[in-house]
Formats: sequence, C-alpha cells, structure tokens
Amino acid sequence: MARRRTDGPIRIGALFSRTGVTAVIERSQFIGTRLAVEEINEAGGIDGRELELVAYDPESRSERFQQLAERLVQDDEVRVIFGCYMSSTRKAVMPVVERWNALLLYPTLYEGFEYSRNVIYTGAAPNQNSVQLAEYMLRMFGTRVYMIGSDYVYPYETNRIMTDLLLERGGEKVAERYLPLNAPWRDYLAVAKQIRTASPDFIFSTVVGEGTTHLHRAFAEVGLESTTTPIASLTTCEAEVQAMGRELARGHITSAVYFETVAGEANRRFVERCRRRFGEDLRTNMCLEAAYFQVHLLANALRKVGSDNVRELLRVLPGSEFAAPQGTVRIDEDNHHTYLTPRIGRVDDSGGFEIIEESVQWVRPDPYLVDYTLEDWSNVPTLKKRKA
Ligand code: ACM
Repeated sequence: MARRRTDGPIRIGALFSRTGVTAVIERSQFIGTRLAVEEINEAGGIDGRELELVAYDPESRSERFQQLAERLVQDDEVRVIFGCYMSSTRKAVMPVVERWNALLLYPTLYEGFEYSRNVIYTGAAPNQNSVQLAEYMLRMFGTRVYMIGSDYVYPYETNRIMTDLLLERGGEKVAERYLPLNAPWRDYLAVAKQIRTASPDFIFSTVVGEGTTHLHRAFAEVGLESTTTPIASLTTCEAEVQAMGRELARGHITSAVYFETVAGEANRRFVERCRRRFGEDLRTNMCLEAAYFQVHLLANALRKVGSDNVRELLRVLPGSEFAAPQGTVRIDEDNHHTYLTPRIGRVDDSGGFEIIEESVQWVRPDPYLVDYTLEDWSNVPTLKKRKA
C-alpha cells in the first residue's frame, strides 16, 4: 500500500446506495453524512484538515458493497468508511474492514448478536427498539401476530427475537412469511389477503425498501384498517412514509430512537439545517440522524488522535459522547454499540410521526439481549407515556 499522507484532506469512504431497492433510505443516510461533513469543514475541519468524502453507489447489492469497500481501502487509501443499510451489506463489508484493520461506522438499526472490533454500530440494537415495540403492541392490540418480512438476514433474525419476546408474554405467531426484496406488488396482495383471512391482532413487518410501499398498498387494497390491525415496524420511517404517501401510512406504528418530531431545540435546528441545505421537502429520520451524528463522533475522535490511525481511533471512540438531535448519545466502552433513546411513533394525518411513548433516559445497548426483558421497558422509571 502507498505511504499515507499526513497533510491535506482526510479521506473517508461512503457506501450508501443511490440506486436499487433501498435507495430511498440510503440516500437519506448520505444526506446526513454530507451535512455533518460540511458542518465540520465549515468550522475549520480537523485542525485545519478538511474531511473529504470518497463516495460510491453500491446499488443495494452486497457484492458491490464488498468490492467497493475493497476499492476504498486498497486504491483510495481510506481507513474509515461510513455506510450500509441492509445487514446483508454490512456482513459483506465486515471481512474487508477486519482484514485491513479499517473501520466501518454503521448508522442503521439491526438484529444485534454481532460484535466486530472494526465496526461501530450507531443504530438501535434489539433492546432499544424490538423490546419496546413488543411490549407496546401486546399491551395495546393483543397477542396474535402475523409476521411479514423481506427475504434476508435482518428479518429472519429480528423475527426470531420478536418470537421469543411474544412467547414470553403468552403471544401467538399466526404466520411468518418472507418475500424477495424485489417482489412485485401482486405478491404482497396475496399476502394481504392471507392476513385478512387470518385476522391477527397486528402485523409485524420487517419489509424494507421498495416492498414497504407494496405492503401498505396491498393492506389498504384488501380493506384492512390501521385502527384495528396496524402494521408495527422497526424500519418504516419518514423516508418510506414519504415514498408511499401519508394516506397509506396513517395510523401505523414504528419503534425508533429518533423521529423528525422529537421535541427540543437541538432537533428543531437540525431539521431546519437539513431543509435549508437539501430542500424543503426533506424529512429527517432515524437513519439520517445516525449517519449525521456518527460523523461528528468520528470528527471528535480524529481531533483527539490527530490522524485516522484506526488503532488510535479505537482507543478514543468507545466512551465518547455527542449531543445528537435525539438527545445525547454515547458509544459503549465494551460492545461498540451506542446508548440511544427509544420511542414509539404513530403516523398522523400530516404523514409525520406522533411520538406516543418515549424513554425518559438513554438505554445502554445490549446487542446480545443479556440484560433486557420486557419488564425493563414497562417499568415506570424508563418509560414516559406521552399520550393515553
Ligand atoms: C437492516 O437490514 N439492518 C435494516
């Protein structure tokens, strides 16, 4: 490998798809990344050195993620990469960053049960979204659940966790179905008809990307109603709601650590800056926000270390904090995941999320679900009910 420069810009890789099935959400992650990089550079960079993004479009395909990660490290001399949405793409990049001792900052909720020395996870682990969603849906809607997901690792693993959480509470899985990532709308229509016949208390969707619109359209087409049989999700956020239109999304429920409607001055200013820079139509979301704050966490670490040496960065990133739009976040010292603030939101008439429940404090990430049970969330000290 060529000798690395210690002056001039610090190059950071970005792997967010601009095409393919998850382009909508990954474009928003790229926006969050760029906004933070611009803020850092406008404020003088890293002791005078600008951050320079080297960005490629991996087309929502795992093999492209892997090839482009290899190119970033080998040809572009990048040590740190921001990127990945689908867990299958993270798992494709992981061996590359591990082999070359590079670092991936991953701004997406995922299924947990993973640790890599070369990955920092800034999206929610299951104890920060799944546990809360299970508790809320069982309490509010009943115990019979129909699971529908996209056909890849995140939905399988998340349904395994959700099934455990349900059975713990006497819940019942009515069905567990998967459709290919590029399944056409008529396949969703067939599933929606089955759902209507099975008449569950709620639907748990781990559908991602373009399939999300198909699912909601099929749901409405067969006459299902969000008031009686809502779709509960960990992935359907403002980006997907905007893509499908608020009519199809109204009344459905998502568990996330950030919504655009989070109260407070920090978030209000963040949303305003995003819109000023990227257009008044922009809606912020949990993945955009994580993509944004993880750049600032890295920039603070780069300032402390004075270079992008990964061994040194890994000494200072764990334990570091940042005042993010969702509230202060912190990278855990031991497991490389992030302390985040769980929330439950329901899509309202405007197409935004009304936050109906919210943790009163951040929740330590527990990616292997060692410490957390449903009781932790339903205990009064960690939960504040926003609305009856
Ligand atoms: C995901 O695949 N982690 C959404």
